[in-house]
Amino acid sequence: MKILVTGGAGFIGSHTVVELINAGHEPIIIDNFNNSEKSVLKGIRKIIKKPVKCYEKDCNDVKALEQICRKENIEGIIHFAAYKAVGESVEKPLKYYENNIGSTLNVLKVMLNLGIKNLVFSSSCTVYGQPDHIPVTEDTPRKPAASPYGNTKTMCEDILRDTITARNPLKIISLRYFNPIGAHPSAHIGELPRGVPSNLVPFITQTAAGIRQKLTVFGSDYDTPDGTNIRDFIHVVDLAKAHVSALELLSKQADTYYEVFNVGTGSGNSVLEIIKTFEKVNKLKLNYEIGPRRPGDVEKIYGNVEKAEKLMGWKVEKTLAESLKDAWRWEKKLMKK
Ligand code: WQD
Repeated sequence: MKILVTGGAGFIGSHTVVELINAGHEPIIIDNFNNSEKSVLKGIRKIIKKPVKCYEKDCNDVKALEQICRKENIEGIIHFAAYKAVGESVEKPLKYYENNIGSTLNVLKVMLNLGIKNLVFSSSCTVYGQPDHIPVTEDTPRKPAASPYGNTKTMCEDILRDTITARNPLKIISLRYFNPIGAHPSAHIGELPRGVPSNLVPFITQTAAGIRQKLTVFGSDYDTPDGTNIRDFIHVVDLAKAHVSALELLSKQADTYYEVFNVGTGSGNSVLEIIKTFEKVNKLKLNYEIGPRRPGDVEKIYGNVEKAEKLMGWKVEKTLAESLKDAWRWEKKLMKK
């Protein structure tokens, strides 16, 4: 299928473009490069050995979006384009609501105008807030997210569901990501955080690279075995493959369809376990200290991912060790640039 990948030059988007091509699809990127680099297109090309078409446009420009979909005869859309910095969303909520919700509304309008039926939406486990029970299933009640970023994901899921309920001829899957980490094994593409990374693994790799002086573990007094938060850390390539599986499930559906899937490993690791595994698999010592809790952090969450295996035939293939090795290989590659 000809697939429009919004935000396709981003971390998860770029890895998904590679897996779409590996699966025989024809991805076309639209990205405003507000939070991604054009060098990613070169990295993708090195992996797939051919150029991938990319339009430098903004999904908030609905006319441009529609023109591209019409011109390219798009058959499906994977919608990644969104701001995703939790902390920034608290300081600039309107920027997040306008962009993340506005772009999703535009994608839906264009799909309805042009008769495009297939949509995979990038959602997040943040919709669960701090769940009462773990692992969370897709039926676990969503909770008010701790940030406007998380609220935009909840609201977009509701917009998608309401659009389907109105019997619009659409087939939609929302994928609720847990914590994507790692990089393509080739080290041609990977995570490119701007400024000081807020996420754990890029901060770890930059500390190991000497870019950051020390990693601070945000709290060790939580109700967990070692006192640090627990998360479901999934290799970004496994996450990318879930999007291909989602598209293939959609192509088998006849009529209107809406499903939500957790996309994680199905198990949790603590922050300290990540640090120790990183040190072990990469044979190095990391400079870190225990500091105060970070406001808004969820204590522990990981996903029950049986539904994705049952309905999409998808499950993770990579180990945590591979994720952390690939993350470090990518950081070392960046150091050479
Ligand atoms: C993980 C754990 C921190 C940095 C967020 C979003 C989620 C998704 C991924 C976009 C926490 C601890 C972190 C550090 C630390 N974003 N940590 N020191 O917060 O689980 O998820 O990013 O899609 O939607 O909510 O990820 O990597 O920021 O934190 O101790 O320097 O690592 O306290 O427990 P998080 P994270």
